[in-house]
Amino acid sequence: MRTHATYSKKARMDMFKNTKKTGLLLKLVSMAVLIALIAGMFATQALAAASTLGAAAAQSGRYFGTAIANGRLGDSTYTTIAAREFNMVTAENEMKMDATEPNQNQFNFTAGDSVYNWATSHGMRVRGHTLAWHGQQPGWMQSLSGTALRNALINHINGVVSHYRGKLAYWDVVNEAFADDGSQNRRNSNLQQTGNDWIEVAFKTARAADGSVKLCYNDYNIENWSAGKTQGVYNMVKDFKARGVPIDCVGFQSHFGSGGMPSNFQTTLQNFANLGVDVALTELDITGASSTAYATVTNACLAVTRCVGITVWGVRDSDSWLSGNSPLLFDGSGNKKSAYTSVLNALNAAGGSGPTPTPNGSFPVAGTYYRLINRNSGKVAEVAAFSTADGGNVQQWSSTGTSSQQWSFVSVGGGYYNVINRGSGKCLDVSGVSTTNGANVQQWTCGSGTNQRWQLVSMGSGYYQLKVQHSGQVLDVVGNGTADGINIDQWPSNSGNNQQWQIVP
Ligand code: XIL
Repeated sequence: MRTHATYSKKARMDMFKNTKKTGLLLKLVSMAVLIALIAGMFATQALAAASTLGAAAAQSGRYFGTAIANGRLGDSTYTTIAAREFNMVTAENEMKMDATEPNQNQFNFTAGDSVYNWATSHGMRVRGHTLAWHGQQPGWMQSLSGTALRNALINHINGVVSHYRGKLAYWDVVNEAFADDGSQNRRNSNLQQTGNDWIEVAFKTARAADGSVKLCYNDYNIENWSAGKTQGVYNMVKDFKARGVPIDCVGFQSHFGSGGMPSNFQTTLQNFANLGVDVALTELDITGASSTAYATVTNACLAVTRCVGITVWGVRDSDSWLSGNSPLLFDGSGNKKSAYTSVLNALNAAGGSGPTPTPNGSFPVAGTYYRLINRNSGKVAEVAAFSTADGGNVQQWSSTGTSSQQWSFVSVGGGYYNVINRGSGKCLDVSGVSTTNGANVQQWTCGSGTNQRWQLVSMGSGYYQLKVQHSGQVLDVVGNGTADGINIDQWPSNSGNNQQWQIVP
């Protein structure tokens, strides 16, 4: 790029001299070269920048999400924007306690599933919100206390987490459990009164019900590092980590006034990340939606490697729970506001630096689960239909974060790995030890077969071929297909993008 620019400048000067000598023709040529150069510069920029929030965030391995309200899914302006811009969804109200268990032990997932199905049918991942909260409790729960309430909470978590087992990327297990009085204390609620251990019981219950979803604590006014409430939550997470209570992430709601975030928010995010949890902005809105304030908060996340993504709390201002504040990125008519552009630019400026660093020498890490993302289609390798049976087919699908799309690598010597599906525990396997081009790839109980032993061949830029020992052929998406459900087979290496996979933790 620099060489090009330097050369061009010299060329331009030479041509400028020439025009003096030789007149109109060369002058025209010189101008044409200049115009072509300028056009070229713009074309380069336009190609490098992503044009939607989700794609721009994905460049650094992050997501950009929104709250979705089931009741608005019939509004095509709303769904058009949401489907275009975002790649993570939180149900605004539909997975809360009053929605999912309106009567004790009678679960209702109609609205939650509707939001879930809309999101996943648009290739988006889903954040569950929320399992335990003093707010939006069903009436029956509000009137419980003591052991009855504790048992009801455990039963609730079991019922809801089991329903969504393997399907969600994150769960907000506990929401807003700390007090607003400047202290580090817990909020006084019926849940708190069941005993101070209610939060860790909630996390342990959730982990037992779904081993793959990331479990988060979520709260507001914990963005300012100096606030007592922030310190209270920080100390709880530190204690949980020290004692092995399962917690994977902390959500910062990020409902901000017109001034935007507290200036030390990045410090807060980094300090929490340093405890060994992912951090995320989970319900972002800013009164008045100053474009500077939106850019600043976006940059705070981008500066922290473990800040995995940003979710805004609604699509258009008119969809916001604080609609009077006009706090979102689209106006009531669905037009992009200036804050939208400032967020998009900030995400694009961050480019490829992010929470999923390019695999290095010690890769793949034993015990880590990875997505296998096809270079041609952007879809991931999965076991179809959550099958746990021998012979369950392996195909590509939009990434949803489910356990059937996660794979671990177990070294079997000689540079080969068994590639094991998280959902089934079975191994990536070429059917019938076939050496035929196009033989099917499936899952099968792990054994010592050479049709289950895969070598990673680096293709550069973080992409790999997976080469199977018995045939020497590589994992391949049939016919360069880009659709959900296209089959995965083995095929002789031809260096095609449909044979290259990004292996992302
Ligand atoms: C809000 C929803 O946006 C509203 O539609 C509902 O009436 C009340 O709850 N913190 C949270 C969110 O964790 O669940 C809240 O969502 C906003 C504050």
